[in-house]
Amino acid sequence: MDVFVVEGNATISGSVGIVGAKNSVLPILAASLLTSEPLELENVPALADVATMLGILSELGSDVQRDVAKARLSICSAATIEPTAPWELVRKMRASFEVLGPLLGRTGRARVSFPGGCVFGLRPVDVHLKGLVALGANVRQEGGYVIAEAPRGGLRGAEIFLGTPFGSSVGATRNVMMAAVLAHGRTVLQGAACEPEIVDLTECLVKMGARIEGAGSPTIEIEGAGDRAALGGASHRVIPDRIEAGTFLVAGALLDGRVRVEGCRPGHLASLCDAFSRAGVALERGEDWLEVQPRGGEPLRPTDVTTQPYPGFPTDLQAQWMALMCRAEGVSVVTERIYSDRYMHLAELLRLGARIRREGATAVVEGTPTLSGASVMASDLRASAALVLAALAASGETEIHRVYHIDRGYERIEERFRGLGATIRREQR
Ligand code: EPU
Repeated sequence: MDVFVVEGNATISGSVGIVGAKNSVLPILAASLLTSEPLELENVPALADVATMLGILSELGSDVQRDVAKARLSICSAATIEPTAPWELVRKMRASFEVLGPLLGRTGRARVSFPGGCVFGLRPVDVHLKGLVALGANVRQEGGYVIAEAPRGGLRGAEIFLGTPFGSSVGATRNVMMAAVLAHGRTVLQGAACEPEIVDLTECLVKMGARIEGAGSPTIEIEGAGDRAALGGASHRVIPDRIEAGTFLVAGALLDGRVRVEGCRPGHLASLCDAFSRAGVALERGEDWLEVQPRGGEPLRPTDVTTQPYPGFPTDLQAQWMALMCRAEGVSVVTERIYSDRYMHLAELLRLGARIRREGATAVVEGTPTLSGASVMASDLRASAALVLAALAASGETEIHRVYHIDRGYERIEERFRGLGATIRREQR
């Protein structure tokens, strides 16, 4: 298994280009199941999760031509697709559950492994299933699989509320939307998730011939085609990854360096920019870049954040923000409102000398001038990113084990940090 060896007391500066968004490309790949014509994608990141999704789609009969160096691929789903997504593949990645909606829409039947929990909590799929039932599907669970069948005559549009006690579900919005585009009649999704990745998927679906309005707002209206063969091929460029951009910006702030993220959408990072301004971190911005300005030794102000659905502070940046607050001058409060148990990084940050107390869904972080290198364990994707940041700021050397977690969602992160002047080695143990 690969290990990162990170030299601490790092100074970083320079520019880093942002790759395509993981949480956009995964559902867009699932959308390729909605047509037998090719979907051409640009800005496809080289991530383990993308490989997993492509593995599932190949299993479902899709043909994939990929040029990793050019970040492009063409995917064409077979005219008669085999509608089973097996546990061996789905268990690796929760987003694979999002093949359910498009498979049901296109073939009228889908058998997809129930995704199960994950390290940061239960993560149910009840709202996904509620949405498909509202479209008329017969949904049952059998042997660890969800089996969904369209009624005779096909799915029918409906008005569906997609909120959860923790905000709107991003995945359910996408799954139900992808089933609804081929249904008969109009679907109105209320309490829909507003994330930029929903808008990106919608733009791709519209290019494929779908009729959708309101994406990016809590009400999305879909005029179903009423014909399973209605959608065609399209070309689409995946939006830049706002979480990757945010991670590099937090690294710049933590290490007091001038770091520019290029090829990003600054408008997607408004809540992070606001938190930076409260923390005393200045940013310069252009149309497609953001740059953290050095503070010249001025301390970081302790800054509370509460995670919320977009455009609130993203749960996917909570761990990285906590690493930053470990070096602030004072006490800050981080509250997790999307996944109350998403605190796997906390115990590992403590191993590096952080001072953090957890009270339920809240972590109280007391900044400390010194963190010191140690061996730590990556537990999930964003937790691992936080450990890389803390390790760069700590004194001495840190070994981060199980970095396969980070490879799921960050493309060659160690090489890109090296490009900014950090020393991180990948070793096989
Ligand atoms: N929820 C339910 N019932 C459902 C679905 C969700 O109660 O049927 C709850 C969840 O347990 C959670 C909240 O609703 O408390 C939001 O979950 P959501 O469905 O929005 O999450 P997701 O679609 O499974 C995506 C991202 C996550 C990101 C969340 C929240 C992808 C592939 N994944 O997950 O990304 O944290 O939205 O923004 O888009 C990551 O990239 O590290 C990651 C975990």
